[in-house]
This record gives sequence, C-alpha cells and structure tokens, in this order.
Amino acid sequence: MPEKTSAPGKIILLGEHAVVYGIPAVAVPLSTLRVTVSWQKLESGDFQIIARDLKNQDITLTPNLDNEQNPLTRIVSSVLAYYNQKLPSVRFEITSDLPIASGLGSGAAVSTALGRAVANSIGEDIPNAILNEMVYNVEKIHHGTPSGIDNTVIVYEQSIKYKKDEPIESLRVHTPFTVLVADTGVTALTHQAVGDVRKLYQANQQRIQSIFNEIDSIVVTAIDYIGRGQIKELGKLMYQNHKLLQKLTVSSPKLDHLVEVALSEGALGAKLSGGGRGGNMIALVEEDMIDTVGNALSSAGATRVFHTDIK
Ligand code: MEV
Repeated sequence: MPEKTSAPGKIILLGEHAVVYGIPAVAVPLSTLRVTVSWQKLESGDFQIIARDLKNQDITLTPNLDNEQNPLTRIVSSVLAYYNQKLPSVRFEITSDLPIASGLGSGAAVSTALGRAVANSIGEDIPNAILNEMVYNVEKIHHGTPSGIDNTVIVYEQSIKYKKDEPIESLRVHTPFTVLVADTGVTALTHQAVGDVRKLYQANQQRIQSIFNEIDSIVVTAIDYIGRGQIKELGKLMYQNHKLLQKLTVSSPKLDHLVEVALSEGALGAKLSGGGRGGNMIALVEEDMIDTVGNALSSAGATRVFHTDIK
C-alpha cells in the first residue's frame, strides 16, 4: 500500500503583488483542490518521481541531486540535507487537481506535498516551520522574488493575513462567505508578472508606491470588514483592488471581461487572483447567486468555475 501526503491550493483574496513590497495580503487555502504524493519503497535502489500531471514529467533522479534549479529535485535535496540522509530507494507519484501556472499555488503545493513525502519515507515528520522555509526557497526558482505568501498559506493550510517578515496571523472570519473561482484558461508565469511590476516600480517609484499604499489601506479595511461580517463592503474593496492591479499591468482583457461579467450578473465584488495576466479570477457571491454568476462566467469563456466557502 502506498503511503500518501498532500497539500492544498490557494487563492489570494486581496493584496497580491503589493505583498512583495511589504504590504499585507490575505490568502486562503483551497482544501478541496490538492496535490497528492503517494510513495512506495523500492527494492531496486532507484529513486523515482513520477509527475504526469506536471507537464508529463517522469523523472528518475540521479543520487547526487545536482540539479538545484529543478524545483522537484531541490525540495528533495533540501529535506534530505536537513535530516542528513542519503537518497532513499522510493518511488513518488505526484497527482494534482491544480492546473499549473494559473495562480492557484500549484508550485508551492507540489513542493509541500513532496517535501512531506520525502520526510515520511525516511521516517520523519517534518515541522511546518522548517518545510515552509524550504518551500519558500524553491518558490524563488519559480518566482524570483516571492513574498512568501503562497508557501505560507499552503504549508499551514489556514486562512491568513500575511505581511513579509512578520509573524503569520490567522484571518478572523465573522460570517462565512462564498467565492467563485474562474479560470481564464490562459497560463501565465507569476515570475514574469512580478518582474514586470518590479520594472515599473524601478521606473516610477513614487507612482507605484502610491498604488501600493492604496492597496495597503484596501487590505487593512477589508480585513476589518471580514472580521465584522460586512461582506457587501468587502466586495467593493475587491473590485477597487482589481482596478489597482490593472494599473500595475497584471490584468488581461480576459480577466477584465470575467470580472465585469461577474459584477453585471450580481457578484458583490470581483478581481483577478494571484500573479495575473491569465490564471484565475475570483468573485464574491451571495449563496443564491452562485449558479447565476457561475453560469455567466462559464458562458463568458471561463474554462473551469467552482466555488469555495471561506470560514
Ligand atoms: C502570487 O500568488 C502572489 C504574488 O504576490 C507573488 C508573491 O507574493 O510572491 C503575485
């Protein structure tokens, strides 16, 4: 019987991109969409990672794990180095409900689930704080200058207010609310969008800093609304956040279209979520509007729509 570990996806409710510059952001785990790693000891001495859901990668790693730039080998070597262990003879199989390059945290979820599996396969249960640091370092391969929000929400699997270099705070939710998540079907690299925002920032620090400051006050106010159950007001702030993300050039015509469709069909708020340029958007909806808004998003070209409750 193979043993199993897993990790959830995530959505960013508010504050993406600005979070890289020290502004707070809010993220929630998507516990129903997961990356799962099953593992099985091998007699052959081989070490294998089978990852068909991740661009058909079937990797048989060499024992020296010399490819530090491959995210899969990097997390394996980090865990083994931490426990001072050699490569075990184990076959790991990664399966994923999360599309890659779509803003749902697939990269961090793969690293988290695989890191846990490698530790388990050598008889260890890796503490979240240690794993979080390792996954963050792998995120640097994916993203260049990640804020740390993706690895943190995924490793700890809890809704958080996240601010770089500050202790993680769990999000206090007064009244549960529902968010629709709709995929543009367009893959986009977070790395690229984060790099472009950096160029923009370097070219015009004052203007971009003032956008970040606006996002800051939106996020702080939104956290207060979430804590008080003022969901309609939260929706308005989400849309304001989207407009500021447009100014940061990380939206796209399809994201904008889905956001406008959601609002015109009765969503309380909508915005892109994550790195942008493609990937997913989110819409805040009252329960009786889930189907109407969800169907409208599908008709408008979303390739996958689902909803998640934030509690
Ligand atoms: C990606 O999920 C969120 C970004 O803010 C990047 C980061 O925080 O590392 C775009």
